[in-house]
Amino acid sequence: MRIDIISAAPELLQGPFSASIVARALKANLAEIHIHDLREYGLGNYRQIDDYQFGGGAGMVLMAEPLDQLLTELHKNRTYDDVIYLTPDGEAWNQASANRQSLQKNLILICGHYKGIDQRIRDLWVTKEVSVGDYVLSGGEIAACILADSIIRLIPGVLNNATSALEDSFQNKLLAPPVYTRPSNFKGLEVPKVLLSGNFKEIEKWRDQKSMEITKNRRPDLLKEE
Ligand code: ADE
Repeated sequence: MRIDIISAAPELLQGPFSASIVARALKANLAEIHIHDLREYGLGNYRQIDDYQFGGGAGMVLMAEPLDQLLTELHKNRTYDDVIYLTPDGEAWNQASANRQSLQKNLILICGHYKGIDQRIRDLWVTKEVSVGDYVLSGGEIAACILADSIIRLIPGVLNNATSALEDSFQNKLLAPPVYTRPSNFKGLEVPKVLLSGNFKEIEKWRDQKSMEITKNRRPDLLKEE
């Protein structure tokens, strides 16, 4: 899978892809991330990428031309399954969205900044608009990292244990059960006996029960969705 990310602040995209699971996936060529600095397509000597909004009001808007040029360039080389714009007014991102997108080949993620991007780019190019939560971030970069991370870890071969992504919270619409490692007694707190029993049927039953209990308490909404 290839993910192209368009950003006016590409420095923000360095950290999350340079360590751990995603970095290993990129190194093993299981996924590619290409970061594009919108400024390189900026207009004039000052490489302008934003301007005041028509109609007045605070905040700058990312201009249509630089985005259009960059998007045109990318589309010359391959077809994209989706062009996703990260925005707080988009559809909510969840595990089902990550599962679906992990089956795609080529994706573009557009990070907004300031007030967002010119509506005509949304009309002409964007096929999906996604929000990572009901709060406003300073730009779409952190949201793009969330999408890329949650997608890439699902690509076959990225996680060592083929089942571990399937057992994550949300994969079965339930939150994950608690986990423990050595020592079995820590500051007087014992690991639940069943986990030390070697009885895998009982362990699975305990985990299912805990998942249900935690989901009922913390996220009853997950149990209502069909
Ligand atoms: N850009 C700013 N806030 C965002 C959010 N909550 N989700 C996606 N993109 C954003």
